[in-house]
Amino acid sequence: MDRFYTSPELADALVGLATLHRRTLTIADFACGEGSLLLAAERRWPAALMIANDVSAASVGSLRKSRPKWRTACSDFLNPRSVRSSSLRNHLTGVDLVLLNPPFSRRNRQTFEVAFGDEIFHASIAMAFVVNSIPFLRTDGAILAVLPDGCLVSKHDEPVWRALHKQFKVEVIRDNARSAFQGVRARTCLVRMTKLSIPLAASEHVASPPTLAIVRGCVQMHSRKVVSSRAGKPLVHTNHLQNGAVTSSGVYVVGAVLTGPALLFPRVGLVTPGKLCVLGKGRRVTLSDCVLGVACESETEVELLRQMVLADWPTFASAYRGTGAPYITLERASRVLFNISTGGRLLQTEASREELA
Ligand SMILES: C[S@@+](CC[C@H](N)C(=O)[O-])C[C@H]1O[C@@H](n2cnc3c(N)ncnc32)[C@H](O)[C@@H]1O
Repeated sequence: MDRFYTSPELADALVGLATLHRRTLTIADFACGEGSLLLAAERRWPAALMIANDVSAASVGSLRKSRPKWRTACSDFLNPRSVRSSSLRNHLTGVDLVLLNPPFSRRNRQTFEVAFGDEIFHASIAMAFVVNSIPFLRTDGAILAVLPDGCLVSKHDEPVWRALHKQFKVEVIRDNARSAFQGVRARTCLVRMTKLSIPLAASEHVASPPTLAIVRGCVQMHSRKVVSSRAGKPLVHTNHLQNGAVTSSGVYVVGAVLTGPALLFPRVGLVTPGKLCVLGKGRRVTLSDCVLGVACESETEVELLRQMVLADWPTFASAYRGTGAPYITLERASRVLFNISTGGRLLQTEASREELA
């Protein structure tokens, strides 16, 4: 069972993300451990009612002693029967803010059955805590959670996120330092989920969000076959993306050819603004499988896209996730670039081109 408690600094950062307007607040942590998240909330809102639950009787027992005013419960939050038979049932639909740093190690990729709306999902343990918190929220309630990147990007939790997006605005606010939890390898981030005042209609979700066409290179570096400059095209790998420009590798390979103008960026590893590079008009290259590219109509368009991404860098960078080395998928890259380029419109309008000229 995870016992990776949140440091006071990280707990304060999480609580600092709340945008609450109500005067009397009810705040809950359903996997409270030693209570660090609620203690941070108490520092910010001393008069709030705190609800602390944990499956560990020892944790709850010591909070009962140190925080006699808090409401405490000792239920297994993944077991609906255990929750229903605990005092937590008194707080259904009464909580303004749920704070969570749920357990997230996934031994044997175990999943948990959760219900949301009319649907049943099999979710990761972290996601199960998020979903099981929802019935406790008031209509304008919010959830602030420390979540593992895996929960945000796994195929497994994708259907659950899709359902949650109908009722919540979900924002990945920041990535935590790898050192945030000692002994934890997983990357984690802070997520804010705010209930939408008007849930989106089902029809608004049937279509998947629009995306931009992105190409992924296919030359594998370990098995690349170097040929003469006449037989192949220059290879572009991540180390050739430098300071916004595509440097020459001097190595020629055979493979799919991408012709500039295009915007290139790494698919895996640490992404920095300098790695977002313009491939000039007419340059023909072959990409390694660690590089992605967006072919554009003109150099102006590439530069415009690059500037928009740089202006919205945290959004772009936060699309690189993964439990090990961070990476971006074609789908995520396509979606984030589409969103950054204001729905792709700037890439198509004359006005946008003039803007840059
Ligand atoms: C990662 S710790 C976080 C504790 C605290 N929220 C914090 O941020 O410091 C996860 C906590 O979840 C509790 N936990 C694990 N499984 C649980 C379950 N099924 N129901 C309720 N609590 C559980 C553990 O006892 C542990 O205290």
